[in-house]
Amino acid sequence: MAKEPVRVLVTGAAGQIGYALVPMVARGVMMGPDQPVILHMLDIPFAAEALNGVKMELIDAAFPLLKGVIATTDVAEACAGVNVAVMVGGFPRKEGMERKDVMSKNVSIYKSQASALEKYAAPNCKVLVVANPANTNALILKEFAPSIPEKNITCLTRLDHNRALGQVSERLNVQVSDVKNVIIWGNHSSSQYPDTCHATVSTKDGEKSVPALVNDDEWLRGPFIQTVQQRGAAIIKARKLSSALSAASSACDHIRNWVLGTPEGTWVSMGVYSDGSYNVPAGLIYSFPVTCKNGEWSIVQGLSIDDFSRKKMDATATELTEEKALAYSCLN
Ligand code: NAD
Ligand code: LMR
Repeated sequence: MAKEPVRVLVTGAAGQIGYALVPMVARGVMMGPDQPVILHMLDIPFAAEALNGVKMELIDAAFPLLKGVIATTDVAEACAGVNVAVMVGGFPRKEGMERKDVMSKNVSIYKSQASALEKYAAPNCKVLVVANPANTNALILKEFAPSIPEKNITCLTRLDHNRALGQVSERLNVQVSDVKNVIIWGNHSSSQYPDTCHATVSTKDGEKSVPALVNDDEWLRGPFIQTVQQRGAAIIKARKLSSALSAASSACDHIRNWVLGTPEGTWVSMGVYSDGSYNVPAGLIYSFPVTCKNGEWSIVQGLSIDDFSRKKMDATATELTEEKALAYSCLN
């Protein structure tokens, strides 16, 4: 029997990531190859005509899994009955703007969209915030949607996770699909800590440790970390636009693993509400290693943390604590 369609909201759908993301959703990359979807696309009135153009293209592509498209600038209509919400819309930093100005714009967007999701989304709607500052936007969304379970509100650090897999695969000249269990700790910003201490490569002789195969701690603790931390900036420099296809693909990976599960023995990185695991302050949206089963994520427990990692994990937590304070000051 055919499955009931799942309703997927994409905000900022007329933007760059939205344009890369909606065809992936319509092709089953996010929800699975046998899962029909109805796309809800939201943007602001300024982008309404472009948004309608995206809707026209979705119709023209005749995606077999796509059972409906809503393109709207009305947040209540956009959120009605959605099972998954991918929050890509936001206010970008413009020349001459201070961090606080950008934060202030996004805090007010995420505060009002939190209320709309709370009122109109389906019960148990899963939320993924992509728009920057992603962790703090997700935290504001959580604070202003108290009836949405905190476990349902997450932010995207899977792109950073995938970037780390990519760098290890390039360095070792192995297939990226054979590398697993890197970790992104903390903020989706240049303070994030990409950690390979527990990462492995699958070889014909079994699983091998990444630090042992690389055999160059200086690289793993220096250029590797900096390359992953700075990859977003490097893409902007090269494309004159921020990452879009890799962000869209990673957003699909995030939701697909959350809903359909992670493979046995594999974890992924997700920005989730901290419960104090690994002595990360509770009450931040912080990226942890997680496994997913039956539509729920759990933080991987019991990993050994050395002094180097501890310092990096604390530094990114400190940045998130400061961002949280800044966000709250913008609300007042
Ligand atoms: P973009 O400017 O091309 O698109 C953003 C879209 O959001 C625009 O169409 C804009 O009109 C819309 N928008 C603005 N305010 C809105 C609102 N209140 N409601 C609905 N829509 C609204 O930007 P992009 O390249 O698609 O990037 C989107 C966001 O994702 C940015 O904040 C970017 O920094 C962030 N990003 C995050 C990651 C990550 O890994 N977390 C990666 C890449 C980009
Ligand atoms: C990325 O990681 O590619 C983006 O978050 C960069 C940015 O600032 O938009």
